[in-house]
Amino acid sequence: MNKPKILVARAIFPEVIDRLAVHFEVESNQADDLWSRPEFFAHLQGKQGVFTTGDQRIDAELLAACPDLKICANMAVGYNNFDLDAMTAAGVLATNAPNVLTETTADLGFALLMAAARRVAESEHFLRAGKWTRWSYDMFAGSDVYGSTLGIIGMGRIGQGIARRGALGFDMKVIYHNRSQLDAVTEAQCKARLVSKKELLQTADHVVLVVPYSAASHHTIGAAELALMKPTATLVNIARGGIVDDAALAKALKEGRIGAAGLDVFEGEPKVHPDLLTVPNVVLTPHIGSATRPTRLAMSNLAADNLIGFLVNGKPLTPLNPAVLA
Ligand code: GLV
Repeated sequence: MNKPKILVARAIFPEVIDRLAVHFEVESNQADDLWSRPEFFAHLQGKQGVFTTGDQRIDAELLAACPDLKICANMAVGYNNFDLDAMTAAGVLATNAPNVLTETTADLGFALLMAAARRVAESEHFLRAGKWTRWSYDMFAGSDVYGSTLGIIGMGRIGQGIARRGALGFDMKVIYHNRSQLDAVTEAQCKARLVSKKELLQTADHVVLVVPYSAASHHTIGAAELALMKPTATLVNIARGGIVDDAALAKALKEGRIGAAGLDVFEGEPKVHPDLLTVPNVVLTPHIGSATRPTRLAMSNLAADNLIGFLVNGKPLTPLNPAVLA
């Protein structure tokens, strides 16, 4: 019997390609070419499954042009590259890669918080530039983390991971804002209290954003929200570009209206707002939240398991639109 055909849209671990090749006829973009939309459509012809990395937009236009497609497996927990309604309408299954990246991503969120609050990147650049000639009492004086108030917007698995780090490791008071209140047991584990967005922004010493991107969460933090924050506060975005108005943030940082920021995601990435590149009190990383080798391998294996689970066994592990399975 012929094996189903799948496309792997970007380069991934060779061992994952080998696993997929046991079950599928695999075309893989191991050269990691950045395909245009028409090129992507052309490579998708005749494919029943596609392994995506979060960069490829799956929408009604693509689904109409690729009628053989049955499943898109994202190697990412976020899936704002998927038009889920269009996929469901076309009977195409969507899967993501949750859970396996939770602690790794929470680590990066905390690393950015620490680096921004304690001006690690800024002072390192100063040192490397040969500007460190003497000690002074207020040189790179930042904000305390231990014992401070941590505000988390978006209290899913990664938000909870950050809350546990703050509460259990750094004796922080944790407040959060979320669509719904956590159950009492989880709130107690995270030592977290639900507050309004306004109270969170006014009270927190450090604000971490972990909300999924959607039209509703676009510019969750803009000029008005930045104006509510303490002048010493730290803002960390490990969620998605577009959750923060990057131009407004760069302005607030430049004018000292907040203390510092740590950003792993950007509006229009991999482009970065030019003003963010010139303000000193911001730590910038190139979307590396889940970037440890074991975690990236686990994410790609989960995407592969979804393809195998669905196309071979009819049982995907982490479906986003299970209505398609009914
Ligand atoms: C990374 O941004 C992810 O959504 O997994």
